[in-house]
Amino acid sequence: MSDGNIIGNQNFSLISKAARLSVAPMMDWTDRHCRYFHRLLSKEALLYTEMVTSPAVVHGKRDQLLAFSDAEHPVAVQLGGSDPKELSEATRISAEYGYDEVNLNCGCPSDRVQSGAFGAVLMKSPDLVAECVAEMIAASPVEITVKCRIGVDEQVPHEVLPDFIENVSAAGVRRFTIHARKAWLQGLSPKENRDIPPLDYPLVHQIKQTWPDLHISINGGIATLDEAEKHLAEGLDGVMIGRAAYHNPADVLCEADRRIYGTGEDTDAAQAVRDMLPYIESHLSQGGRLHQITRHMLGAFAGRPGARAWRRKLSEEANRDGAGTELVLAALSEVTGFTE
Ligand SMILES: Cc1cc2nc3c(=O)[nH]c(=O)nc-3n(C[C@H](O)[C@H](O)[C@H](O)COP(=O)(O)O)c2cc1C
Repeated sequence: MSDGNIIGNQNFSLISKAARLSVAPMMDWTDRHCRYFHRLLSKEALLYTEMVTSPAVVHGKRDQLLAFSDAEHPVAVQLGGSDPKELSEATRISAEYGYDEVNLNCGCPSDRVQSGAFGAVLMKSPDLVAECVAEMIAASPVEITVKCRIGVDEQVPHEVLPDFIENVSAAGVRRFTIHARKAWLQGLSPKENRDIPPLDYPLVHQIKQTWPDLHISINGGIATLDEAEKHLAEGLDGVMIGRAAYHNPADVLCEADRRIYGTGEDTDAAQAVRDMLPYIESHLSQGGRLHQITRHMLGAFAGRPGARAWRRKLSEEANRDGAGTELVLAALSEVTGFTE
């Protein structure tokens, strides 16, 4: 890893260190409540927002889209867009909200995103991406990064990915996260596009070897810290984990600070649940509902005794009127065996 990515007057080494392990941006999943919970499991891992589009940031309800808790740092916002001026404005606004990084989505294959000519389809337009990131860098005191695929449709990844990285890094991006599979823009749903196109990890490692000064994170199909450690030991700078971190956050995050960063103690999912209670109370007191938070905590005990009862109790009852922290404690007693 190039320690201290210095661009202009900015030193981005701290956030680059956090990027050794990140939880992927996931629409409808990695909202602020989810991130708050994940942060209780790891102090160090970099957390990403769901994608927010640049038109929504510029013209929409900003607080609803961008507000987050100070406890979530280090946290990166992911933008979707392809209009350089609009992205630049959205970047400026996001930086004002206090995000530590602004990431441009060049990997999302959904129809809605394609119609806006951004997301994975941008793999076909590296010059436009270079123009976008140059404007974003000019507008931003925080680091601009890119999350991309290895190609789309009929593209040949070994040709287009190096070309993409060359162009976009020449515009000033020093940190990339590469989802190591193509997106097929016709014929596959977004969900299928996360499983069916084959993974090509060696290509991502090859990119790192070609550009040793860039910070390269790998993403796609990585489910455990053992796998993450292997990629890091083989020379990559970072590993991004999506679905496994959401469905089984304790396995991915509880030992991450010690194993990936060499700092801190292991955390405990039951303690993290208890530490969520004041946050939940505050959400409820502002008119929020319990399930809006607990839906992100259903996997907290995945694979452990009591996990099914925990999940069932919360999924069946947290949506009821008046459901509160006592339900969380009752569900927790199914796992710990203690009534608190
Ligand atoms: C429910 C869901 C929503 C997603 N939303 C986004 C998104 O907003 N932006 C993005 O770049 N990728 C998105 N992704 C893709 C993930 O960031 C990640 O690249 C993908 O899931 C592969 O990593 P994994 O195998 O570790 O899950 C989403 C994935 C899922 C499962």
